[in-house]
This record gives sequence, C-alpha cells and structure tokens, in this order.
Amino acid sequence: MIFTQWPADLGPVICVVGARPNFMKMAPILRAFAANTPPIPALLVHTGQHYDREMSDKLFEDLKLPHPDINLDVGSASHAVQTAEVMRRFEPVLDTHHPSCVVVVGDVNSTLACTLVSAKKDIPVVHVEAGLRSYDRAMPEEINRVLTDQIADLLYTTERSAEANLLREGIASERVRFVGNVMIDSLLHNREFARTPADTLAVAGADPALLDGGSGYGLITLHRPSNVDHPETLASLLGVLLEICEQLPLIFALHPRTRANIERFGLGHLLANPRLIQLPPQGYLEILGLMAEARIVLTDSGGLQEETTALGIPCLTLRQNTERPITVEQGTNTLVGRDIDAIRREAGEILAGRGKHGRVPERWDGRAAERIAADLAAWLFQKHQASTKG
Ligand code: UD1
Repeated sequence: MIFTQWPADLGPVICVVGARPNFMKMAPILRAFAANTPPIPALLVHTGQHYDREMSDKLFEDLKLPHPDINLDVGSASHAVQTAEVMRRFEPVLDTHHPSCVVVVGDVNSTLACTLVSAKKDIPVVHVEAGLRSYDRAMPEEINRVLTDQIADLLYTTERSAEANLLREGIASERVRFVGNVMIDSLLHNREFARTPADTLAVAGADPALLDGGSGYGLITLHRPSNVDHPETLASLLGVLLEICEQLPLIFALHPRTRANIERFGLGHLLANPRLIQLPPQGYLEILGLMAEARIVLTDSGGLQEETTALGIPCLTLRQNTERPITVEQGTNTLVGRDIDAIRREAGEILAGRGKHGRVPERWDGRAAERIAADLAAWLFQKHQASTKG
C-alpha cells in the first residue's frame, strides 16, 4: 500500500537539536520533511545546550529554522549534569506527544541524552551522521557517537567508511543507509546568501581595511578541550598563529570556551596583533562567507573540515585524528595535530600555492535530506503497516 497521507494514528517525528553544530544539520531535514509526499509532520525540540544569541538564535535566523516547538532550556553544566538534565526534561515530551520516532543528529551531549530516553521508552531512534569514529575515547563526542549508534534503530551515514565502522561494532547492515551529508545540503542551499567578509568585519566592529592588501586572509576556529583547556597547549597554538599572521592576516572567530580560557590563563597578549582579528562566535552566513573566500582555514571543528572540502578551500585540522577521514583522503584537509612545526610547514605550503585541491565526496550533492525523508517515511509506513496488521 502506498501512503499519500500521513496516517492519523502515526505520531509526529520529533527532531532534536541542542548545540550549534546541530542546527545546520537539522534545517535541511525539516525542509525535506515538509516537501516530502506525504509531508512528514515534525516537532522541533531544542534542548537549550547552547543558548546565547550568538551560539543559537542567530543561527536559527540564518538557517531559517522554525522556532522550536519545545525548548528544554538546560543550559551549560558538567557533562553528567547536562546529559542528565536533558534526559529528565525530554522524557515528558515523549509522554505528551507519542512520536513515531525521534531524529537526532551529530555527536553532542543532547544527541546521546535524547537517544537514551527514547530507546528506553521503546521509541525508534534515527541517527543522522552515524558511524563516524575518531577512535579517540578522550573526546566526549566519540563516547556520544559510539553509544548513540549502538542503540539507534536507523543509521544514516555521510561517507562509506562509516558503515565499515558500524559493522565492526556488531551493528547489522540493514540498519545502515548511506545518504550523503546534510551539512553540505545546508552549505549548498545557503551559499548564495553568505555574507561577504568585508561586511562581517564591519558589523563586528573590526577594520575591513586589513583585507585591502589583496593578499587575502586565513580563518581560525578552535574550541576542543584538548586544544584550549591547557595553558601550555593554548599558548603554543596562539604563538604559531601569531607567526602565521605576519604572512597573512588571520580572522579568529572565538568560541566562548576559548575566549574564557584565554582570559583565565592570562594569554590575551598573544592576540594583541592588528593582523590577528578577533571576532565573537559568528552566524552561519558569516562563517560561510569567511570560509568560502579564505586562503587557508585552521580549525579543530568537525563541520569546518567537511565544509572546506566541499568548498575546495585548504584546511589544516589541529587534531591528531579525524572522524571524517574522507576529508583527508579526497578533500582538502590535512591533519597537523598540535605539532607546531607541522602547522608552520603546512601553512607555508598552502600560502605558497601548494595546498590540496581535493574533490567533493560521493553524495555530498545537496540532496541528503531528501533521501532521508523518502527513506524514513517508507520505513515508518512499513513498520506501521506491520503493527496494524499484527
Ligand atoms: C559542544 C559540543 C561539541 C561541539 C560544540 C560546538 C558536546 C560534548 N560538545 O561543545 O561537540 O563541537 O558544542 O560549539 O556536546 N557557552 C556559552 N554560550 C552558549 C553555550 C556555551 O557561553 O550558548 C559556554 C559554556 O558556558 C561553556 C562553554 O561555552 O563554558 C562550552 O559549552 P558546552 O556546551 O559545554 O560545550 P562546547 O565546548 O560548546
């Protein structure tokens, strides 16, 4: 039987977002749900893990995300308290709305917390961006990924290596579907609306004249605890950035954690160079515009590794490993860890025009969310039919 209408006794799909990197993944999914035949009814839950205007509301506006139907307002806390608080506040949402399934994205604490609650209540969980592994259990995100994938029912992947990771962990291949990358759906959808770097600097009160020399600029983002939570590590990374900015002006979009640690460790003097422009956390359209025109991106973000690969911009990732190996194998990404010599050397290569060109990975074509919507609707209908027959 083909469904042309959403069955009245099949609940809505609850879509969960919590932190900044979730928002650009969920926006295309919600659009695809609305455009599907039949439209998939969705309820958007924001856990409130990120709550500042800069970390949350501005991105909702940029991405044209609907206002959340429910906000759990959990805010910042230790990992245990934050995860527990999301769980405690999410459970009644399931009791009230009886969803047909819960969709979670990425690897933040909210992803795991909502997965656990749903699985315990026997509500199917769908994980978008499943199977990525850094094989580094010191990363809180790796714990979130491994546990979410173990108990989610349907696993949508962004690259083929993810399926192999999942199979190694004993997950049945029937649960895994390679659909492509919803983050790149957002990038392609919004590219034409990106804000120009000159505008972004002007709005942030920085002097756009620094970009006038014609040499271009580099973009930096850093927020991983492994890079920014230890004074010596952070000081040595800021030191090499200070060196690089003598060759090329650098724009540093500062995450709240990084800004707080720079102050706490008394490292502010290392940023006191007019060629190192500090900006507050940027909106989606601002960061997209800054990335698209950068000569080099230095980052420890997962999202920026993928976005620079899609844009063909050389990226140095300041981590020892990546859960997104395709960006290194096929894209423009190079891992440099916290090795100051490697950062200096690889940046020099890129500035000398010898950076990676890369190619865009398979199914990073702007249609991943569409594939998810069609597949998920068919899966839910099939389950529904089986349960009503039984
Ligand atoms: C979280 C995610 C990480 C993701 C990152 C993107 C986990 C385990 N980590 O890390 O995977 O890459 O988001 O930003 O879920 N803060 C604010 N305003 C906010 C939110 C946080 O000032 O809106 C401050 C908090 O007070 C805290 C710091 O930023 O001191 C870190 O926030 P937190 O949500 O704990 O983790 P992130 O480092 O942002």
